[in-house]
Amino acid sequence: MTARQIFVTTALPYANGNFHIGHIMEYIQADIWARFQKLQGHAVNFVCADDAHGAPIMIAAENAGVTPEQFIAKVAAGRQRYLDGFHIAFDNWHTTHSPENTELAQAIYKDLKAADLIETRSIEQFYDPQKGMFLPDRYIKGECPNCHAKDQYGDNCEVCSAVYSPTDLLEPYSVLTGARPELRQSEHFFFRLSDPRCIAFLREWTLPSRLQPEVAHKVREWILPGEDGRPRMGDWDISRDAPYFGIEIPDAPGKYFYVWLDAPIGYLASLKNLLHKRGEDYDAYMAQPGLEQYHFIGKDIITFHTLFWPAMLKFSGRKVPDNVFVHGFLTVNNGEKMSKSRGTGLDPLRYLELDMNPDWLRYYLAAKLSARNEDIDFNADDFMARVNSDLIGKYVNIASRSAGFINKRFGGRLGPLADDGAQLLAALRDALPRITALYEHREFSKAVRHIMQLADQVNAYVDQNKPWELARQDGMDARLHAVCSACIEAFRVLTLYLQPVLPQLAADVAGFLGTPAQDFSHVPQALGRGWRIGAYRHLMRRVEDKQLDALFAPPEGAAANTADSADAAPPAPGGEPVADTIGIDDFARVDLRIAKILDCQPVDGSSKLLQLTLDVGEETPRNVFAGIAQHYRPDELRGKLTVMVANLAPRKMRFGVSQGMVLAASHADEKTQPGIFVLTPWPGARPGMRVS
Ligand code: 2FM
Ligand code: ZN
Repeated sequence: MTARQIFVTTALPYANGNFHIGHIMEYIQADIWARFQKLQGHAVNFVCADDAHGAPIMIAAENAGVTPEQFIAKVAAGRQRYLDGFHIAFDNWHTTHSPENTELAQAIYKDLKAADLIETRSIEQFYDPQKGMFLPDRYIKGECPNCHAKDQYGDNCEVCSAVYSPTDLLEPYSVLTGARPELRQSEHFFFRLSDPRCIAFLREWTLPSRLQPEVAHKVREWILPGEDGRPRMGDWDISRDAPYFGIEIPDAPGKYFYVWLDAPIGYLASLKNLLHKRGEDYDAYMAQPGLEQYHFIGKDIITFHTLFWPAMLKFSGRKVPDNVFVHGFLTVNNGEKMSKSRGTGLDPLRYLELDMNPDWLRYYLAAKLSARNEDIDFNADDFMARVNSDLIGKYVNIASRSAGFINKRFGGRLGPLADDGAQLLAALRDALPRITALYEHREFSKAVRHIMQLADQVNAYVDQNKPWELARQDGMDARLHAVCSACIEAFRVLTLYLQPVLPQLAADVAGFLGTPAQDFSHVPQALGRGWRIGAYRHLMRRVEDKQLDALFAPPEGAAANTADSADAAPPAPGGEPVADTIGIDDFARVDLRIAKILDCQPVDGSSKLLQLTLDVGEETPRNVFAGIAQHYRPDELRGKLTVMVANLAPRKMRFGVSQGMVLAASHADEKTQPGIFVLTPWPGARPGMRVS
């Protein structure tokens, strides 16, 4: 077999925060595949980098009072802890803010320009005069042109789901300064993806024979003829105006590449950096005719990777990717989406700090992952069952059931196998082509299931032969020796099969068996008669309930009133004890209604009060004063729905009569835990509806 040359990447994470479990899942998926290829004897370069550019990072750095370079350096410094912790063995970790990336991005741009695929156009865009910069869509808010909800983002309305462009917003304002943005003209650079050459190439490159069929189907909607006979694919705006944290566009002062232009080029930059460190030539590496290039990505960034990126490479005269492998999102305990901005649920660092075994997570994810673009769920009970019952109960226990006898009764040396033991091993070895194919096609869950079925066969062999009974019978030493030796040989083969998933465990097993590092080519071999194994050490602990409880416990500070804290005084929720019990009739006397905040104004002479005009579905709106002026700007409340006590006796105040009360949450100790949070109903509620 000739070694394949394989270049593999995972998506580059934004350098604006720590990893969440979604990142770790992708890295583990790709790491299993890269390790598998290396164990096949192939030459793999597995790289990643920080995606360091763009307006959000520039603004985050400014808010943190540091330069963007300092900001991204701090994030980068936190990466290795996670990668080492979960045994994710990238060959290189680099950054898009690097000389390699600058040089490559500028060269690719020049080549696209030479191919007549870059053009400039003047576009009209919102500009924040106070901040002195053009505003990305997410930094503009305003009133929805459709339903008139306030404070909606520049591209879509969260209340009525309307989609529009920022210039359609009514009363737009800059999220950065609150200033009213101005429309200004600016010259932008476009990659002419709608050019017939690009469309023709992409139609061929995105065929379902290459891409996952569900991915191909979706992405081809952009390039196949639409109802009007033309593809939907438009040209791509690849420039941003200064101030911007990015790479300068050659010969265009004040213009930078949009972060999504230079981000995927960061794959090449990281590879180039790696090869340079090894003294290898990047151009020669990329020119190898058989070089394979694969990108593991999440389903949210498919168009960038299956349309823009292959076209950029193709028309700048470079090697195009061989494939893009798309995975779905990871949900935790059935529900919460691991979004990029809100990586809640399962904190990977907490997992490591609780001293939970990284190979447990790797095994669990492998047991769930397939080659399809589908979401998977991390379920705590399922996790515990799969690790304790399958991984430990079926596989690890094979060693603990047999090694003791080998060590105590036979001086740690393996004996000759009996025919049935040899047959068992032959069956295990025969599975090699199937397991290899499943790993190759990223069908990890099927691979794991198949390996566990083989482990079942080994356990059935143990149960039939009952070594613990053989050990008590006279004259059965040879049989005991043969049975336990077969189990140890089988255990070694199963370990090799699981090695891409469980690198640490495989290394520990190699230590216990006294073997050098082994790969898939060692499957057909045997340790053989007379091989001396080491003393059996416990190879893996079981997952405990209390570890999972701790993993999902609310963060410190959030009151946890659990049985464990029974001897301490129970913490009062929200800083005050729950009031005396009332009956449902008492509650029914309070008439709570949905109210729409039609208007909200500051109150002259009061720094605490805001004056609200509320529509409660009655003929005339209500006037209510609320003590929330220090927590909300009037424009943040206008147009929103809230809940009010509608049958509270009117109260005469210095500024007028208050006809009810708006509901808001706060901690009893406002000094140490400040904040007032006005209640809002879920979408769909309408003014006047009763809350019960
Ligand atoms: O979506 C993201 O998190 C991007 N930072 C991914 C970039 S992948 C590649 F293009 F760099
Ligand atoms: Zn709307």
